[in-house]
Amino acid sequence: MTIPRLIRFNFFTVIFIFSACVTVADMPLTRLYAPANKNRVAEDYQVTSDGGMVVAAHPLASKAGVLMLDKGGNAVDAAVAASFAISVVRPQSTGLGGGGFLLYHEASSKHRRVFDFRERAPRKASANMYVDEKGEYKKITFNGKLVTDPPVNGHLAVAVPGLVKGLVEIQKELGKLTLAEVMAPAIEIADKGFPVYRAIASEIVDRQEWLRLYPSSHKIFFKDGQPLKEGELLVQKDLAATLRQIAATGSKEFYEGSVAKKIVAEMERGGGLIDMTDMRSYRVIERIPVTGHYRGHQIVSMPPPSSGGTHVIEMLNMLETRDLTDIHPRGATYLHLLSEVMRRAFADRAKEMGDPDFVSVPTARLTSKGYARELMKTFDPEHATDSKLYAANFPTGESQSTTHISVIDQWGNAVGTTQTVNYSFGSCVVAEGTGIVLNDEMDDFTTKSGGSNVFGLVTGKKNDIAPGKTPLSSMSPTMIFTDKGELEMVLGSPGGPRIISAVLQTALNVMEFKMPLLEAVHATRIHHQWMPDAIKVEAASLDDDTRARLLSLGHKLAAIESIGDVQAVQRLSDGGLVGVSDSRSDGKPAASPKR
Ligand code: GLY
Repeated sequence: MTIPRLIRFNFFTVIFIFSACVTVADMPLTRLYAPANKNRVAEDYQVTSDGGMVVAAHPLASKAGVLMLDKGGNAVDAAVAASFAISVVRPQSTGLGGGGFLLYHEASSKHRRVFDFRERAPRKASANMYVDEKGEYKKITFNGKLVTDPPVNGHLAVAVPGLVKGLVEIQKELGKLTLAEVMAPAIEIADKGFPVYRAIASEIVDRQEWLRLYPSSHKIFFKDGQPLKEGELLVQKDLAATLRQIAATGSKEFYEGSVAKKIVAEMERGGGLIDMTDMRSYRVIERIPVTGHYRGHQIVSMPPPSSGGTHVIEMLNMLETRDLTDIHPRGATYLHLLSEVMRRAFADRAKEMGDPDFVSVPTARLTSKGYARELMKTFDPEHATDSKLYAANFPTGESQSTTHISVIDQWGNAVGTTQTVNYSFGSCVVAEGTGIVLNDEMDDFTTKSGGSNVFGLVTGKKNDIAPGKTPLSSMSPTMIFTDKGELEMVLGSPGGPRIISAVLQTALNVMEFKMPLLEAVHATRIHHQWMPDAIKVEAASLDDDTRARLLSLGHKLAAIESIGDVQAVQRLSDGGLVGVSDSRSDGKPAASPKR
């Protein structure tokens, strides 16, 4: 059963209040797993190897990646194979109609590179494209139905997809295998189908209002008029054919040929803006990774137009100004500090962040130690800071949107890639005849003055829509190295703004609290995004005293089902690898033996 969002808030609020009566302070961390999957066995989510490791949010995707390592492919081949496969098995999260970021570490040269293949605004897009003269969303209809929230639902929500060009170009430059080899598993899964699992079944139900509206989507995700159920087979023949075309011709067909024409025809059917010029002119951008240091570790992550890497480093810098030696990772002192650090970083996100090709973003200042010290001057251990917020929507569920893949190969090369169609099933529009779910990445722009996006995030002028501009992201594929540059960990997560919090806390659990990776990934998380001014807390994670203390400091608390879905690989000092998938969702690591 899927609980509608509004009711879900109340339901989990009740659970949260009830669970706060249970003392969990001394519970081992293994008891503090995310509530959604608390019955699963933690050890199912951990794999060790002395060869290579692929960790993705679906076992078929991890397996596709490991097949490439077994064939002699490298981390890039594995990551690209896993990416195409996850596009097939998690259409609610990512796909050929979306985009992403990829961070690459080459073991031999210690060279790190980042690639931006995120969606871009179509050339006909403009700052006020969604609003009328009163500043309200325009009334857009499809087949006579009002399309509410047009930056999230329907054709006008779609930005120019970048995933295919990104994966094809990166694999061509850095991979060892052929494109056809790395795409073979995805084609097979799309062609033969895979059993619908709990999360995708419930997301189809959650998004059925829109998936039903568009006939091209309805015919894929419904059977006899009903949403596909757990255990039924999801076969995607059109998607298999599109994947075959890409495997045979590279990205040309997709951006200039028959696939591009079908995407543009779909846009014309529903008032979307993307035209052939937009498709033809799409470019992948290589950027310079953002880097920082935290107590003997180097942090390397995604720069703007993601806010993720910058704010992970900004928050670590703030935390480094405090001695955390004897602090308890579940105690009020730490959670207060963490929330205050998040509040400050997210306030900067709203004010300073946007596409650096269009606006100036002060990344160097935001990631400097001096700036972190400045920010912490207003930190009060006895009081929560006032975010001066106004009322805003506060979504409570962790949607199934976005996904992350972490890979380390047998030579020590590493890839972290986070990919998305934005909200669950993106715009809910499938381009007829392609099987491609089109993104709704336009919602990551500021679409309405003073409004918030589907994640309750407020962004500013720097993130206004402009033709060809990239919407601000939170995706944070991140690597951690020793100060000597030895790779220690690759990690990332979905979750909109909660990506940043999930990556930060998992990294801190390893670097600061020395937790084994399994515990680090599964310890409960909090999230504060400045506005709305409240700490989101995973259900059942706070004991009575901690909760009371946080309230007495002036914090507001809000329950959330779960925060993030981390996929991580750690390299231990003996060279062995540990891969961990987050039991908050459906992932499973896969390992390749040393050869
Ligand atoms: N679409 C979510 C993000 O990029 O942050």
